Amino acid sequence: MAEAEVVNNETTLNTDQASVTINHNGAHVTSWKVGEDEVMFLSKNAVLDGSIPIRGGVPLIFPQFGPGKMRQHGFARRVKWSLLEKEEGKDEAVAKFCLEPNDYTLEMWADVVFYLTFTVKLSGNKLLLDFNVKNTWENPFKFTCAFHTYFNCDIDKVEVKGLKGCKYNDTLDEGKTKEEAGDFVKFGANVDRVYRNVTWPVTFNMSQNKTVSIESNVTDCVVWNPWSEKAKAMKDFQDDEYLRMVCVEPGNCIEGIELAVGENWSLTKTMTLTED
Ligand code: BG6
Repeated sequence: MAEAEVVNNETTLNTDQASVTINHNGAHVTSWKVGEDEVMFLSKNAVLDGSIPIRGGVPLIFPQFGPGKMRQHGFARRVKWSLLEKEEGKDEAVAKFCLEPNDYTLEMWADVVFYLTFTVKLSGNKLLLDFNVKNTWENPFKFTCAFHTYFNCDIDKVEVKGLKGCKYNDTLDEGKTKEEAGDFVKFGANVDRVYRNVTWPVTFNMSQNKTVSIESNVTDCVVWNPWSEKAKAMKDFQDDEYLRMVCVEPGNCIEGIELAVGENWSLTKTMTLTED
């Protein structure tokens, strides 16, 4: 295995076809390129130094999705992770990170002890993510989580497919349960929904002739675009960037996962970029 090289607190993996960059702050995927196509949206105002979570790419949400007892979206995206291994080949490349409790996590999460790994794998035109949680504590614990993924797109043209008939919690309407009637989700305003009991894949057109397909092992899929007013209120996001991004986020956002002592569980996701 090649000695892992870390430049600017980032690890980059390259294959003949693709590349992925992971910032060690939050073990945060900030770029995934297939050929010349950048699939991940990263705000021009994103702060990469670990002082705040990175706006764009794939923030890891754990152990709390959204607001609650802890700070919004938990601590995984706010702390520095360690690189365990890195391996690159012609068609495949993999990097693995880990996180153990520190003063910050222990204070935020009532002394809970865990071992987290995050594995990022390039395989041809696919990016595979595996976020594994192991309970190394003396009690069971429960958490919610998500891959809060920001994709590049043209918001006027994007259609998110695969959610027809799903019930969703509308975060913008007091979390009321509604049902998706359309063949696809279109955007013309702030959208913030947690789709439930999703059957994967969920797909969308990233550009005129490129489609992203998302497979996951979890029940929920958040669909989010802040639109213009909320964009203006975010310092780490440019006012017009809502026009160029969409978040499609597999997660276990509502019910949560309970882990007994010694158990482990993975949130997985495979993203594929294809040309139509
Ligand atoms: C989404 C939530 O996952 O994340 C939204 O559904 C939230 O409600 C958005 O606004 C961004 O959150 P944050 O903490 O990164 O600004």
